[in-house]
Amino acid sequence: MGRFLLVDRGELLKRIAVLTSGGDAPGMNAGLLAAVKVATARGVEVLGIERGYDGAIDGQFSPLTRTAGSDLVPIGNLERAGGRGGTLLGSSRCPRFFEPQGRAAAAGQLRRARIGGLLVLGGNGSLTGAHKLAQETGFPVVGIPASIDNDLGCTSDAIGVDSALNTIIEACDRISDTARSHHRAFVVEVMGRDSGYLAMVSAVATAADAALLPEQGMTEAEVIDEVERLVRAGARPDRDKPRILIIKAEGVPVPATRLVREVSERLRDIQVDVRATVLGHIVRGGNPTAHDRLLAGRFAFAAIGALLDGASDVMVAWRPAVVGGAETSDSSVRLFPIAEMLEETAALLDGTSSVTRARLQRMKAAQGVLGL
Ligand code: ADP
Ligand code: F6P
Repeated sequence: MGRFLLVDRGELLKRIAVLTSGGDAPGMNAGLLAAVKVATARGVEVLGIERGYDGAIDGQFSPLTRTAGSDLVPIGNLERAGGRGGTLLGSSRCPRFFEPQGRAAAAGQLRRARIGGLLVLGGNGSLTGAHKLAQETGFPVVGIPASIDNDLGCTSDAIGVDSALNTIIEACDRISDTARSHHRAFVVEVMGRDSGYLAMVSAVATAADAALLPEQGMTEAEVIDEVERLVRAGARPDRDKPRILIIKAEGVPVPATRLVREVSERLRDIQVDVRATVLGHIVRGGNPTAHDRLLAGRFAFAAIGALLDGASDVMVAWRPAVVGGAETSDSSVRLFPIAEMLEETAALLDGTSSVTRARLQRMKAAQGVLGL
């Protein structure tokens, strides 16, 4: 634990708070339920903060534990929420938290409510805010990666990714059924403003013809050329290809509907019907898969342990069988300083990280095979 900010509290933590922030992710509720149970087992009260950092600034806290006789127990409706998508606590994009005054106000509210530590479930934006809160105010914070985008550094997985992938795959299977019936081509757009992870993995899993990712850095003209090329190749009569499926990440710089319009214009000389489907928020909703529920539980267990042991400004990370970071009681879950995670996230998104380069290389190698 030497690398981490350890907070000298002088007394054991008796009360902590949890918030969910940024884009909701299936499994956030499972993480919340697990965190409350683990804290309860250690005799620590838990308060839920409503609507992410907005609720922290406004002091919107409500108890997630209560006493039953001499026992501390989780409140009743938490168990029901554990298997549900979205977030029971609510989430927000909170402009006030970008300002130091907003973060100071949140720390003031937390201290006035005699809360000794904060658990934040969210993506890289939310954990940037958590890092600044810990740095500027000294308030103890531990982060749990929860974002369907899978764009956080130091962790190979985040809560919600597996559920989102399964939703995309089911949607693509449905689209493929109708596409094959009419020998059509489809461009399916999936979420991922800065990250093409969902598009990349779902393209492989659905045996699509190609994936278009923001990390490929193509211009709008190049994207249109590439889709025209793919559709022409797939629609050749001697190929006898019943459907053409191209999965495009939201962050690729041309909206799916315009892309399809432009490509259709260019393909007037051949008989092919090209359609666009934007999955949008369908990708983010829905109940979490078994994998996400388990991941959420294991993250929450390690995160509560770290918080109660006095760690702060750290994030739990999924690193099965990898050396690095400090150990937790779960050999697949490691603790990283949030600052280190944010550095790696920036490299993931600007393409300088070895992980992004390896992903792109694998995708390039797969493109030739996918189109067959
Ligand atoms: P996600 O956590 O899913 O990446 P956002 O990027 O929208 O989602 O971030 C969620 C919230 O986290 C923001 O609305 C803001 O309140 C806080 N946040 C994000 N970036 C920062 C930052 N650089 N400084 C302080 N707070 C931030
Ligand atoms: O960060 C998760 C995410 O779903 C991105 O993939 C997407 O670009 C963004 O959130 C959409 O956010 P909102 O629901 O606020 O439009």
